[in-house]
Amino acid sequence: MKFKLIAVAATSIALAMGGVAGLNAQEDVIAERQQAMKDMGAALKAGNPGDVAPLAAKLKMLFPEGSTSADSEATPLIWEEWDQFVALFDKLEADSLAGAGARELGGTCKECHDKYREKKS
Ligand code: HEC
Repeated sequence: MKFKLIAVAATSIALAMGGVAGLNAQEDVIAERQQAMKDMGAALKAGNPGDVAPLAAKLKMLFPEGSTSADSEATPLIWEEWDQFVALFDKLEADSLAGAGARELGGTCKECHDKYREKKS
């Protein structure tokens, strides 16, 4: 009986630790994509719209399912409409590679933010 209790306790500790590790990975990915978003904004401001393409390509990988948090402005709609969401990054990348300017690219930024980002501050 006592042994069983210890086994159960050990299992819950292991589960709790796994949970914490998972949470940290999720926070890392959120911080990384927020930085990549800022870098895209900086590229546009600096007059380098061509620099947006690799960032848009990278960003597609930085939204694992369900990765949202109190600090994140990502809405759950992203994973319900994943194909449409990713299509906006593809468009951004393609337009940037094709030499589109900040104004045109900015329209895609806004289109996605209007739908899939919930401003918290
Ligand atoms: C396909 C959707 C999508 C596109 C396209 C997109 N964004 Fe975002 N953006 C988001 C989402 C979702 C967030 C919220 C991320 C989070 O907080 O987890 C965000 C957040 C941001 C942030 C805030 C980052 C922070 O520090 O919290 C900036 C700045 C930003 N985007 C700039 C841009 C610019 C500039 C473009 C266009 C060149 C762009 N985004 C294109 C979806 C998009």
